[in-house]
Amino acid sequence: MPDTEQIIRLEEVFKIFGPQPRGRAFDLAQAGVHKNDVQKQSGHVVGLSNVSFTIGKGEIFVVMGLSGSGKSTAIRTVNKLHDVTSGEVWVDGVDVQTLHGKELQAFRREKMGMVFQHFALFPHRNVIDNVAYGLKVQKVDRAERETAALGALRLVGLEPYADNATSELSGGMQQRVGLARALASDPDILLMDEAFSALDPLIRRQMQDELMAIQDEVHKTILFITHDLNEALRIGDRVCIMKDGVVVQIGTPEEILTEPATGYVAEFVQDVDQGRVIKVEEVMVPADPILDSADFEEVQRSVSASGDRLVVDNAGVCVGLVTKSDIERVQRQGTPTLSSAIRTDVPVANPDQTLNELYADAGKGLPIACCDPAGRLVGRLDPTAVLEELGRVEALADAFEREVYM
Ligand SMILES: Nc1ncnc2c1ncn2[C@@H]1O[C@H](COP(=O)(O)OP(=O)(O)O)[C@@H](O)[C@H]1O
Ligand SMILES: [Mg+2]
Repeated sequence: MPDTEQIIRLEEVFKIFGPQPRGRAFDLAQAGVHKNDVQKQSGHVVGLSNVSFTIGKGEIFVVMGLSGSGKSTAIRTVNKLHDVTSGEVWVDGVDVQTLHGKELQAFRREKMGMVFQHFALFPHRNVIDNVAYGLKVQKVDRAERETAALGALRLVGLEPYADNATSELSGGMQQRVGLARALASDPDILLMDEAFSALDPLIRRQMQDELMAIQDEVHKTILFITHDLNEALRIGDRVCIMKDGVVVQIGTPEEILTEPATGYVAEFVQDVDQGRVIKVEEVMVPADPILDSADFEEVQRSVSASGDRLVVDNAGVCVGLVTKSDIERVQRQGTPTLSSAIRTDVPVANPDQTLNELYADAGKGLPIACCDPAGRLVGRLDPTAVLEELGRVEALADAFEREVYM
């Protein structure tokens, strides 16, 4: 993120758990020894090994990895719930390791809101008191904190429930109260550790959508932790994949999917509905259309050379498609004109769409016309290209497996 202000930065961070974190375990980790071997040789647990990443202002940065990979440890270095063994953690220009006591408390309260998987709400207090709780602790006066709490409840769509007890709400709604509580003090940073992981898949998707909608409004810097790659790719501007305390890859969802850095990432990615994040414009090719005013013989020639051609009017607007079989049909029927050969049932996509929305259209076997909002043809997608693109990451994973096991 070269052009944006960097709000969170971890630099070569190591975190070793055990009685002598800076002893032999640290030397081994520094030498790049795997966490399991460090544990065998020193009895210490590697939480983080040489972890570096930067998060830009307004970014949703997702750390993804299996259980035990170090995600929670990483997020806890940002609010200094953990000291680091070595390395630096910077948050908005502040070296977090230098903060202590009241200063640290104030920093956490003012800079960051936190949302966790099991959000500790007060079950018998009403929603608005739960949301305003942090502000009360900060001694914000009642009127002001209620205004702020109502504003946060509006963001998460729970304003009408302000006076309900939280115990009356569903799991998804309680998690929204948790989110509202984090938003109430209007912090620059949101730290979300597996915030949606306990929710049912459907509710979870809704929460992801809502978080993204809220983010469009509030532009926070969000560090979001999940063990679910689908969730990571769905909401992350960038995704950081961790394994055994080490960062394996950092990239945009597209990069993770199309250029997995290691076989480990590729294997993860195999399970993902990758078409969802690949855009039409990344896969489409020049359309090379013919004009609807072209004479029939010319059309016949170019179609027999290429199999089919999209047709545009002189404003560049796509008016249909001509295939070899259309040409043959009109010749048989004795009406050899372009207008009788054109078919208008061509599937149309816009360049901003994602490939997963085109499964059905690709299945028709016809090329897909890529048109801008004014209907002008800007490219074409061949159904085989769509299907190939969707198979690419799988092929990468296969290649990796062959390399390793053969
Ligand atoms: N307080 C602790 N003491 C000892 N080991 C810990 C502690 N916290 C985490 N760990 C270990 O550090 C590693 C990373 O844990 P964690 O960051 O919680 O993983 P994740 O959140 O990705 O599931 C794990 O091996 C875990 O057992
Ligand atoms: Mg965790």
